[in-house]
Amino acid sequence: AEHRLADYRPPAFLVDTVDLIFDLDPAATRVRATIALRRNPAHGDPAAPLVLDGEDLTLESVAIDGEPCPEAQLTIADHMLTLTGVPDDFTLDTTVTIAPDRNTELSGLYVSGGDFFTQCEAEGFRRITFFPDRPDVMARYSATLIADAARYPVLLSNGNPVDRGTNPDGRHWVKWVDPHPKPSYLFALVAGDLESVHDTFTTASGRTVALGIYVRRGDEDRVAHAMECLKRSMRWDETAFGLEYDLDIFNIAAVSDFNMGAMENKGLNIFNTSLVLARPDTATDSDYQRIDRVIAHEYFHNWTGDRITCRDWFQLSLKEGLTVFRDQEYGADTTEASLSRIDDVKMLRFRQFPEDAGPLAHPVRPPAYRKIDNFYTATVYEKGAEVVRMIRTIIGREAFRRGIDIYFERHDNTAATIEDFVAAMHAASGFDFTGFMRWYDQSGTPNLSFEGRYDAAARQYHLTLRQSLPPTTNQPASTPFVIPVAMGLLGPNGDETPTRLHGEAEPVMGTRLLMLDAAEARFTFTDVAAEPTPSLLRGFSAPVRLTGYSRAQLATLAAHDTDGFNRWEAGHEHATQILLDAIAGEQRGESFTLDSGLREAMSAALGLADTNPALAARMLTLPSAEDLAARMAIVDPDAIHAVQTATRAAIGQAMIERFRATYARTGTTGSFSTDPASVGRRALHNITLAYLMAADPATGITLALEQTRAAPTMTEVLAALALLADTATPERDDALAAFHAKWRDDALVTDKWFRIQALSTAPDAIERIEALSHHQDFDLKNPNRVRALVGAFGMANPLRFHAANGAGYDFVARMILAIDQVNRQIAARTVEVFAGWQRYDPARQDKMRAALDRILAANTLSPNAREMATRARHG
Ligand code: ARG
Ligand code: ZN
Repeated sequence: AEHRLADYRPPAFLVDTVDLIFDLDPAATRVRATIALRRNPAHGDPAAPLVLDGEDLTLESVAIDGEPCPEAQLTIADHMLTLTGVPDDFTLDTTVTIAPDRNTELSGLYVSGGDFFTQCEAEGFRRITFFPDRPDVMARYSATLIADAARYPVLLSNGNPVDRGTNPDGRHWVKWVDPHPKPSYLFALVAGDLESVHDTFTTASGRTVALGIYVRRGDEDRVAHAMECLKRSMRWDETAFGLEYDLDIFNIAAVSDFNMGAMENKGLNIFNTSLVLARPDTATDSDYQRIDRVIAHEYFHNWTGDRITCRDWFQLSLKEGLTVFRDQEYGADTTEASLSRIDDVKMLRFRQFPEDAGPLAHPVRPPAYRKIDNFYTATVYEKGAEVVRMIRTIIGREAFRRGIDIYFERHDNTAATIEDFVAAMHAASGFDFTGFMRWYDQSGTPNLSFEGRYDAAARQYHLTLRQSLPPTTNQPASTPFVIPVAMGLLGPNGDETPTRLHGEAEPVMGTRLLMLDAAEARFTFTDVAAEPTPSLLRGFSAPVRLTGYSRAQLATLAAHDTDGFNRWEAGHEHATQILLDAIAGEQRGESFTLDSGLREAMSAALGLADTNPALAARMLTLPSAEDLAARMAIVDPDAIHAVQTATRAAIGQAMIERFRATYARTGTTGSFSTDPASVGRRALHNITLAYLMAADPATGITLALEQTRAAPTMTEVLAALALLADTATPERDDALAAFHAKWRDDALVTDKWFRIQALSTAPDAIERIEALSHHQDFDLKNPNRVRALVGAFGMANPLRFHAANGAGYDFVARMILAIDQVNRQIAARTVEVFAGWQRYDPARQDKMRAALDRILAANTLSPNAREMATRARHG
């Protein structure tokens, strides 16, 4: 069934309290729920029956106010339990049994490594007990967990433990009470034989919070980083937003079988092990950084998500867009702001722009869905964060901060809407957001172009900004967006010049804001002494595609702009244009020559090696295949790869001595640190190795092999191994075998071993990837392993996934059908890799559509995968 935003209706019954008793057993867990219900006057129908959601539950008993419910009052159909003739205010008692050890969907209560975990967002609670499983039903919960004391010594749930005991049969129990009202999707329990690491945090007002991180035995030495990140996040939210933690306990539990990254359950966050565990020899610097951001993200949800939740799932971005924005700001404040912004924008372009351009395009607030789990997307998360950022850019930091206060004053402890959030921002600023709301309800990435005209006689500069929006799926026409364009002008020497718009009394120094709220607008700057270079969209002030710079303008901006993001952006755009030209040449059969402008830019980047190694590494990174594909009418994966390879080799050869010298002085020596300089040096070390390998494969392979053997950090080992994996050489085979032998008992590192082979550009990559799907360590039931092999191949190995003979498509389609038998959410997400078919040549298009048709033809296909495949196929 399709759900529509326009059909929202308040729930017929509200729930005040939920008391749960779990008798935990892997094969048959009994769940008794006592629920205090009363009619909701806002619903409108005073005779409406009580309808509860329930999935894969075996009902044992139902009682109303203590009396068994007569059969005639009760029907179970279509995952719903309907009770007619119920009082207006009553207590419902239900007992069900469930089978956690057969729950391979990993939604609801399930077993992983013999321990119990839950995942309830979005609709997993209905797989635990019958309940009105929707976020606008907020209640106070208690949970009593009963389990074998020896096998499950640790029993955790939301809130605080209030009582515990041991039964005569040797089973023990703990009762948890969560004082804060919450929706069912934030319920959590964990039971198992887990190790824990503890610390404390003292809040701004002086309360002590007990912090705990629970992991499998043997992983205790990998949680120090996560604990530091947690404390830093707690402090940051107090300083940046005045938001203090509101319980006495904050626990995190790590689980190796998990459908996503992590989950913000009240007081008991549950994390994928990949986003908690880190040790220098097992986790890369990007793992460390991801962990920091996700720990922060889930912690920040305590206020933006838990205290104020969503009225319905169409409002998902209310909590996700805002919380991603908050974790981005945390990243910017606690590391290096412009580098952090560069990484976030790269991610938006890699994941969200293609989504917005293809058949899966949907607005930040989707108008309809079948399975909400299919809408935890880059658009809802990352574009949603950009929309929040634009609000702040438009009204300014102070008004935004006041707006957050108003949002909490008005909506704390309720389930709110995006309108509520925007209304708070309006109240704080007076800005009229009517037109701006299109960012929430209209899909597609606007194209922003500009034209500058300098009038020397009048000393005026006329800047015309234009937006156009290509039609997207299900949305043929669209209205212009309200686009905040942060900008400045650089003078002839590259200096920032004050700007004064026609009619303004005073010039503005530095970055200023232009608002484009129509298809086109013209801005006239006065007192402009010489033809300026415009620096537009500073800090990436809106999620649009900006075009129109000349190469000379890009060179000026890359060298001089005062905005760190735009300086990098100009260099990146410059390189993109040059590579696109080379790709066109490659397609015409011309031989490759390295553009001198690019060579100079790379030489300048390498010159930053000592002063700013992190920036140098980012500047030396060539545009990605996706960056280039996004700019081509018909994507040609072979030509893209050929030009990337030739460019890397030519740059490597042109500066081989400098690369050698840089390589020699950038490896990790001495003690490990994740400070920006150390991380930057390792990034530079690795990219330097890539250039050396491209320039001189024989020497490069020797260096890479040595790096896999001797480097002290996973960051360096894995980068070298990935370069070797691209070569079809005996050294590759040796290095991969040695790595596997060393780490085969370590699940997260073994995931990395699968992933780098899934990303291999070597000619024999596909056969090897197919073989890996039969490897004894491959496991369809483990989402991390599936993502490492199948997801990575389809998402990030364009050369081999799009192999002209269709072998890549066949492999992924077969895997999706196999995964769907086990875990429908993971199967559905993997379908995304086929969504870009319109961007390819007719032969590839045919093969990609045929793969989708084969998926759709399977009669056992889950509704989750069916929704995604249908949308990917037909829009
Ligand atoms: N709320 C969680 C997070 O952002 C993610 C939950 C994802 N749920 C899902 N069904 N995919 O942080
Ligand atoms: Zn989130």
